Amino acid sequence: MILITGAGGFIGSHVTEELLKKGEKVRAFVHYSSRDITGNLKFIDAQLRKNLEIFPGDLLYLDEVIRAMEDVRAVIHLAARISVNYSYRAAHETVLNNVKMTANILEACRILGINNVVYVSSSEVYGTPKKIPIKLSTPKKAQSPYAASKVATDELARSYALSFGMNIKIARPFNTFGERQSIRAVIPWILYQLLSEDRKVVEIGNTHTRRDFVYVKDTAKFLIKMLELESFKEVNFPTGRPYSIKEVIELAKKTTGIDKEVVVKEERIRPKDSEVEILTGDVEETYSIISLRPKTHFEEGLRNVALWIKNNMHSIKKEHDLL
Ligand SMILES: NC(=O)c1ccc[n+]([C@@H]2O[C@H](COP(=O)([O-])OP(=O)(O)OC[C@H]3O[C@@H](n4cnc5c(N)ncnc54)[C@H](O)[C@@H]3O)[C@@H](O)[C@H]2O)c1
Repeated sequence: MILITGAGGFIGSHVTEELLKKGEKVRAFVHYSSRDITGNLKFIDAQLRKNLEIFPGDLLYLDEVIRAMEDVRAVIHLAARISVNYSYRAAHETVLNNVKMTANILEACRILGINNVVYVSSSEVYGTPKKIPIKLSTPKKAQSPYAASKVATDELARSYALSFGMNIKIARPFNTFGERQSIRAVIPWILYQLLSEDRKVVEIGNTHTRRDFVYVKDTAKFLIKMLELESFKEVNFPTGRPYSIKEVIELAKKTTGIDKEVVVKEERIRPKDSEVEILTGDVEETYSIISLRPKTHFEEGLRNVALWIKNNMHSIKKEHDLL
């Protein structure tokens, strides 16, 4: 049995689906509430879900995390407060939540002797690098409370591996995009605004910043591959090809065949010193550690997300109208 935290989220649902396709038994730790708790897991085929066990709970409580780990041989820990923008408003909460959830996962694994943990970090830990491509040796620089929470949890994971000889891996995907992602993320947000008949313009923050976008099915394969490593390792997962937001908008227009005016909105711009200008990594460094590269071309991923948004426009609109 493999335990996935954040399984109802964007990346977690794809990791869960891919593991189920491989015939694995998966326990999905989902955040308990009295309403819809399974999130994106509902998009997984019912036949595949036969090997899926749902564990509703709260990762902030160590006793619940320990209970969730019965008969578990490996853990992929994805759950987190993930928004950089929200972390400006809720800095304290973001840091405390992300550190405590990860501390609970690591401590439960230590107590129970579970010796295969993939902890999911983020390329945001590097901030704007002095030199590109980013490599594992690039110094970390937290430019937002979200990034700080990830730097802290990276070091917590490393410390458990080094202190207790645990097989913990730090997996660092670069910006991930794909079907099921919230429209608060930049790519679905651009495509949604182009595709929605109610919207006349595309509102956006900085358009010069560049990101290394990885398609979610590639990220899912990467996280599963990380389970195979037998000792502590830190691995980045970039494509090596950064796109500016301006380029993304142009490609999104081409993909949808829709052209709208682009309007830069002050409130979507990060504070100047907090803005990360570019994130792009070294794909060959990654390959030398895990013999894996992202496969999906950026434009193919964009087409898939556009189709997903078209097919789910009604529910996405409802979610957006409530925000
Ligand atoms: N999306 C990206 O571009 C990206 C890039 C690099 C790294 N990451 C990392 O990947 C992971 C998953 O990101 P995502 O984009 O799928 O985010 P997401 O918000 O879709 O998923 C996060 C999940 O964590 C769960 N969670 C939060 N608090 C919880 C709690 N107290 N108890 C139980 N569950 C809780 C949420 O319910 C949610 O399902 C995060 O750790 C994120 O930092 C994401």
